[in-house]
Amino acid sequence: MNARELKNKYIEFFVSKGHVEIPSASLVPENDPTTLFISAGMHPLVPYLLGQPHPLGKRITDVQKSVRTGDIDEVGDTYHHTFFEMLGNWSLGDYFKKEAIEFSYEFLTKVLSINPNNLFATYFAGNETAPKDDLSASVWKSLNIPDDRVVPLTDNWWGPAGATGPCGPDSEMFVDTRPELPPVDFKTGDKQGRYLEIWNDVFMEYNKKTDNSYQKLSQQNVDTGMGVERTVAVLNGFADDYLTSIWQPIIKKIEELSKMDYGIESDDFYIKDDKQCWVDVRKSMRIIADHIRSAVFIIADDVEPANKEAGYVLRRLIRRSIRQGKLIGINTNFCSTIGQSVLGNQDNYAGIYPELDQNKEKILSILDNEENKFRKTLDRGLTEINKLITRQHNVSGKEAFDLYQSYGFPVEMVEEELSKNKLTLDKDEFLKYKDEHQKLSQTLSSGKFKSGLADQSEIITKYHTATHLLHASLRKILGTHVQQSGSNITSERLRFDFSHPEKLTDDQLKQVETMVNEQINRDLKITCDTLPFIESQKQGALAFFGSKYPETVTMYTMGDFSKEVCTGPHVEHTSTLGKFKIQKEESASAGKRRIYAVLE
Ligand code: SER
Repeated sequence: MNARELKNKYIEFFVSKGHVEIPSASLVPENDPTTLFISAGMHPLVPYLLGQPHPLGKRITDVQKSVRTGDIDEVGDTYHHTFFEMLGNWSLGDYFKKEAIEFSYEFLTKVLSINPNNLFATYFAGNETAPKDDLSASVWKSLNIPDDRVVPLTDNWWGPAGATGPCGPDSEMFVDTRPELPPVDFKTGDKQGRYLEIWNDVFMEYNKKTDNSYQKLSQQNVDTGMGVERTVAVLNGFADDYLTSIWQPIIKKIEELSKMDYGIESDDFYIKDDKQCWVDVRKSMRIIADHIRSAVFIIADDVEPANKEAGYVLRRLIRRSIRQGKLIGINTNFCSTIGQSVLGNQDNYAGIYPELDQNKEKILSILDNEENKFRKTLDRGLTEINKLITRQHNVSGKEAFDLYQSYGFPVEMVEEELSKNKLTLDKDEFLKYKDEHQKLSQTLSSGKFKSGLADQSEIITKYHTATHLLHASLRKILGTHVQQSGSNITSERLRFDFSHPEKLTDDQLKQVETMVNEQINRDLKITCDTLPFIESQKQGALAFFGSKYPETVTMYTMGDFSKEVCTGPHVEHTSTLGKFKIQKEESASAGKRRIYAVLE
């Protein structure tokens, strides 16, 4: 079964159980300052898990694009990926543990034909926050999973996705990929290699608050997540995800460019490069495939390489790929070629994600430009290093850190240059500077993570409403070519990106600010309606996220001034916002402007 078939079967199954399919949300969270990327299927559904009614009802299913950068350093093994697709089904205050587990069991054994004797089901063993989940255990046992394969674990807890929000105990399902071997102890044995996790049912009935306490939610939810890449590997009997048809076209392209083999047996894939260093070819190929695939999807959702936040993650993914390419002997631009094989993967993506098709040229040219830039950086760095070697016969840890810090020059390459000259780097000194720098930037950015939309805090809600007023004012003053292209809210300010060809004059900024304040003073009433998307468009509601809207949507109306399709939440009256002040206007990217504003 390939990825496309799996995705179709999953959605068909849950639709047959009364769920409504929704499209994948963008990888960039709307109005959630606590995380850079959507990291799970439940992430865009947070408001509904917290109790807001979903316009499409209480049973939802989808395939959600996700990015997890937390374990970027693990990528290179058989199963860690930065980008992945996640299948999910949700009960928003509808069914709970019994039905969720029964659905999971039926899908795994009947639709995917996994032998029930090869399944393990784990459940929450209990702690000071929540009790042991005996109910889940008894449901699994009632489905004929033998008692010794229903395992209590203390870390079976999932969420929240950001700093705060819905979370709860979970039941993770594993498949024994080598049932012919004698069983190993589930808790202590090497289950990563053999017992592979393929699905997670989370029973979300708690809300983690900013003060780290847990509060019971007003409704009991189910959130499930099944990783497409892992499941396809298991169904096809591969212990290595990269051997599936999801990855093979990309790996083949890397083989062609590097003139090396991905290899089958574990000893095949170490080579000695011209500097006589051992290189794990397979690992390098996996990193390139993983990182370029992520980069393609991230660019398709309107992120460009930059020195901070999401743009920095993107830059890092591309740079790490280039570095790995060099290790396996690819010395000319290759990222856009790999990008092309991601875009053209017929089994998986071709025709499924319109944002890939629509942004094809842009994706490839960003990959290429970024690669050109980084190759220049590498050349500059190498010249610098060789100067230092000639002058002082070494490069200090501090100098290596400066190169890393100012050019993004990889420390491994400093070491390689030194080793060619039979010199070694003081790595401890390098790490000392790196750690100091990291601590400093963490302190600087900690303010940013203080609160998020996930905790529905009052100030974030106010900024969200102010964003709608700003959007409508910009369109009235500058013209209807103005369209929102991004928004980011923290408890300190709002940031709004929109299409407009030139810098705003001081006079225009003043007019916009005045218009927003007038609407605040008029104390407009804010109403929310649930209606078909087409109807919202007939009523003139703004909605600029292309084809990404479900059939039925929620629309927020602010008096006679603004109408937008949006999931909310918003305040009820504009007078609660206080005074609106624009702090800064700048370019966001070509043809796009960015405004920072505060409420005082
Ligand atoms: N949110 C859970 C996970 O990511 C289940 O969907 O595993």
